[in-house]
Amino acid sequence: MANTTSARSLFPKNPSRKIVMLTAYDYPLARLVDQAGVDIVLVGDSLANVVLGLDSTVEVGIDIMIHHAKAVARGVERAYVVGDMPFDAYQVPGADAVAHARRFLDEAGCDAVKVEWFDDAARVVKELRAAGIEVMGHVGLTPQTAREFRVRGRDAASARAILEQAKVFEVEGCFSVVLECVPEALADEITRTLKVPTIGIGAGKSCDGQVLVLHDMLGLNDRKVPSFVKKYADTSALVLNAVRQYKEEVQNGLFPDDAHTFH
Ligand code: KIV
Repeated sequence: MANTTSARSLFPKNPSRKIVMLTAYDYPLARLVDQAGVDIVLVGDSLANVVLGLDSTVEVGIDIMIHHAKAVARGVERAYVVGDMPFDAYQVPGADAVAHARRFLDEAGCDAVKVEWFDDAARVVKELRAAGIEVMGHVGLTPQTAREFRVRGRDAASARAILEQAKVFEVEGCFSVVLECVPEALADEITRTLKVPTIGIGAGKSCDGQVLVLHDMLGLNDRKVPSFVKKYADTSALVLNAVRQYKEEVQNGLFPDDAHTFH
C-alpha cells in the first residue's frame, strides 16, 4: 500500500539524522534491506546493469521496471519505496510521464518515483506533482543521458549548472534530490542551499543521506564497480563456495544424505 503521508514530512531536512537509501530489485533482497532498517528502497534502473547484464540503463523499459517494482514492494513492509522512471517513461517525445508514474504507484505499490535531470525535467516534475505524485530528483551524473561515466561539476560552469538543476527540482516540488558523482565541495554547497534533503552517491559525506547500488556494496557481481563504492560483503565468494560445495557433494554421492531424504 502506497504511503499517503507527504514525503516532505517523512523526510525533513535534518542534519542530525542521515537518510539511508539502498537499491533493491527483487523480493528476497528487498525483504532483507527493509529488515535491516533502511529508510528508502529505490527500485533503480541500475537493474539493467547489475541484474540483467545490459550495458545501459536506457535498455530497460517501463514494463520491466514495473515487474521488478512489484516484487520489491511485496517484500518491503516498512521502508519508503521509490520507483526509478526509466528513460522511455518520460524522456522520449510524447511519453506520458504521469501515466507511467501512476503504474509505479497503483500497479506496483511504490510510494514515489525518481526522475533524472534532462532538458525538459522541470515540465515533467511539474506534471507529476500536479497529479499528486511524490518525486525524487537526480542530478550530477545522470546515466540515462550520460555519454561518459565520470565525475560531473569539476569546473565552475558545470558546477553552477548542477546547482541550478537541483534548485529547479526543489522549486518544482521534489522531496529530495540525488547527487551522483560530484565533488564533495559542490555536494556540500547544494546541500546547504536546498531546503529538501540531498542523497549522495559518490558525492562525499556532506549530503543529507547516502545511496548505493545494492549489488555493488554486497560484492554480488564481477563487473568493475565505481571507486566510491565500499564493498560491505563478498557475496560472490559466498555463493561460489556454496555452489562448488553442492557440485562436489552431488558428484561424490554425499548429497542428498539421510537427513535430506524421505524414508
Ligand atoms: O538506478 C539507480 O540505482 C540509481 C542510483 C544510482 C541512485 O539511480
